[in-house]
Amino acid sequence: MLVQKILTLDLGTSAVRASLSFQKGDDFAFYIKTAPSRGIKNGNIINMASAKESLSSALNALKLDAPTALPNEAYVLVPGGCTLGYQVEASIEFPGIKTISHNDVNVVKNKAKDELLRKKGQTVKSYYEVIHVVPQEFVVDAVDGIQNPIGRSGRRLTIKAFIVLASRSHVKTLEELLKGLNLNLKGIVLQSFAASFGIRNKNSYFNNNLVIYLGAGNTEFIYFREDKPVLSRHLPFGSEDLLEFIIKKLKVSRSEAERLYNEYGSAYAFNVSKEEVIHVNYGSRSIKVPKILIAALIQLKLRDVFKDIKAILTEEDTSFFENLNGVFLTGGLSKLKDIDVLAEKIFKAPVTIPPLSHSNVEDVALSPIVGVTDYILSLMDREKLSDIKEDLTKYYEKRGSFFASIWRFIADII
Ligand SMILES: Nc1ncnc2c1ncn2[C@@H]1O[C@H](COP(=O)(O)OP(=O)(O)OP(=O)(O)O)[C@@H](O)[C@H]1O
Ligand SMILES: [Mg+2]
Repeated sequence: MLVQKILTLDLGTSAVRASLSFQKGDDFAFYIKTAPSRGIKNGNIINMASAKESLSSALNALKLDAPTALPNEAYVLVPGGCTLGYQVEASIEFPGIKTISHNDVNVVKNKAKDELLRKKGQTVKSYYEVIHVVPQEFVVDAVDGIQNPIGRSGRRLTIKAFIVLASRSHVKTLEELLKGLNLNLKGIVLQSFAASFGIRNKNSYFNNNLVIYLGAGNTEFIYFREDKPVLSRHLPFGSEDLLEFIIKKLKVSRSEAERLYNEYGSAYAFNVSKEEVIHVNYGSRSIKVPKILIAALIQLKLRDVFKDIKAILTEEDTSFFENLNGVFLTGGLSKLKDIDVLAEKIFKAPVTIPPLSHSNVEDVALSPIVGVTDYILSLMDREKLSDIKEDLTKYYEKRGSFFASIWRFIADII
């Protein structure tokens, strides 16, 4: 399979972005254009005409800038709030020893999907559809930790997977939106999952690591074990809520709150001078307040969000927090001054804001859109099956050794 050009769309709370990426030498070239976000709230399209206008202006800017024509199909990021994520396990038995083929993987994967939907009941089945099936491991008879079981022989195949579902109505709305712009919806990728690809390098191995995407309207996090997601959640919170909190507490205008946030915003008040005084403007008059006040307000809100994340982790599995050995922050809000300092105090683990997987894109707000390209590339990895939402094709059969093929022949006839 050859990757040609990848068009990715990000309908964010603060900005709508369109990205074209394609292989260029050893790396990928990215062309990314942004337009102000209209008609979108927390990733939900609340006004189709405005959203279409925003997206159309990002796409038109991209068309002008890109060195090649855009594909007529696009991947779209989906915010965590429109999704559900579950861990599942399913097994199939063979009548005798059998060499596992791509088709057996499809069968066990589809069984896992069906069992999950049956277990979750009619509501989930009617309102959600599967968007990711991320294998955590395969087990063939007594051997566990297998990344790709194709070519192995055994009597029993088990899949442990993390399945992400997205709201059908959200997907339908995206399809409609794209149709209006003469684009087909090629696929959708969970924003935080994409972001986790966007911050990887070739040595990344996330084990007991938490990846938190912090945007303008969404906070999404994924806990990784043995490099595989085991928990994904969403909180409806972002930098927009920080601005609203400043507006409410200081009774200032939106533009003044933005100025205060941009000039004095910090997540850790203890690092801000207690003596320094700033001016807060109310139309033609202004009052003096200690500079630390802005950081204190922000810290108060963010501390609650990080504590909520900690509580969700602990409630799910106490070992998530106990074993946590590193937190990665990404997304636009991760650029806030000292946010890593505050996060470290709460998570009691090292916190980093990693650079993006492609050195030619620097802005960490772009981790999801850049990560979609890496996610798509990962689908071509035959050693490690990264997402088998779509049935695997013969391409995934591993080329075995001469002895393996003889064994397969023997296994097939006994
Ligand atoms: N240097 C900075 N310091 C603090 N905050 C920043 C900085 N740069 C950007 N931000 C915040 O990040 C926000 C944008 O983040 P991002 O692009 O990840 O969100 P989004 O994709 O639009 O929203 P969402 O995914 O939550 O719907 C901006 O609205 C801004 O408030
Ligand atoms: Mg976003």
